[in-house]
Amino acid sequence: MKIAIIGRGAVGKAIGGGWAAAGHQVVYGVRAPSAADETETAPAAADADVVVIATPWSAVPVVVAAAGGLAGKTVIDCTNPLALIDGRLQLAIGHTTSGGETLAALAPEASVVKTLNQLGAENLGGARRFPAPPVMFAAGDDATRKAVALRLVGDLGFEAIDAGPLVNSRLLESLAMLWIDQALARGAGRAFAYARIRRAT
Ligand SMILES: NC(=O)c1ccc[n+]([C@@H]2O[C@H](COP(=O)([O-])OP(=O)(O)OC[C@H]3O[C@@H](n4cnc5c(N)ncnc54)[C@H](OP(=O)(O)O)[C@@H]3O)[C@@H](O)[C@H]2O)c1
Repeated sequence: MKIAIIGRGAVGKAIGGGWAAAGHQVVYGVRAPSAADETETAPAAADADVVVIATPWSAVPVVVAAAGGLAGKTVIDCTNPLALIDGRLQLAIGHTTSGGETLAALAPEASVVKTLNQLGAENLGGARRFPAPPVMFAAGDDATRKAVALRLVGDLGFEAIDAGPLVNSRLLESLAMLWIDQALARGAGRAFAYARIRRAT
């Protein structure tokens, strides 16, 4: 599959490397292309089956505009709308909307799937290093497009789980906040993820 990753930072590199290793064709949309697998945002998005937003949350409106609105695209949203509020890292837009929904409003003709936002970047590219597949949830409104995103998440080594409609991005962004709080404030370190286990009966 042709995947355009907008932003070649910690997240973009981690998932891009994983998908390239899985046989996908990965191009990075960046502001100053310098490598063979980089181009500007507009051509990267235009030529891709799936466009991944892996930039800071604050850059999302600029990225959507630079990408020409993303009409008809399956868009994977990895961003977390983080802000330091009262000295604590929190969701900048509170719990009554989400980054995923905000992106969908900015790109109304795209199909947005929120996923790959719930763990630290090194785990996004290193899911196969865990003793069992970590879970990664995906929320989106279009079942067909979400299935594509779930397959791509699975290709990174995750147990990819449908988390319902895009409004559930609110849950997934809160889950990211829990991971960040555990990693940075509770001494868990960054080399952990969540797995789903079931009772036999
Ligand atoms: N880091 C994590 O562990 C982690 C985990 C899950 C989700 N997230 C979320 O994922 C997103 C990316 O995080 P990150 O840690 O990868 O950030 P990062 O390392 O700071 O990288 C962000 C990238 O976005 C690029 N960028 C900024 N504005 C852009 C624009 N207008 N057009 C194209 N590229 C642009 C930057 O390019 P320049 O070099 O040109 O500035 C940079 O390469 C954030 O929303 C974050 O909350 C992060």
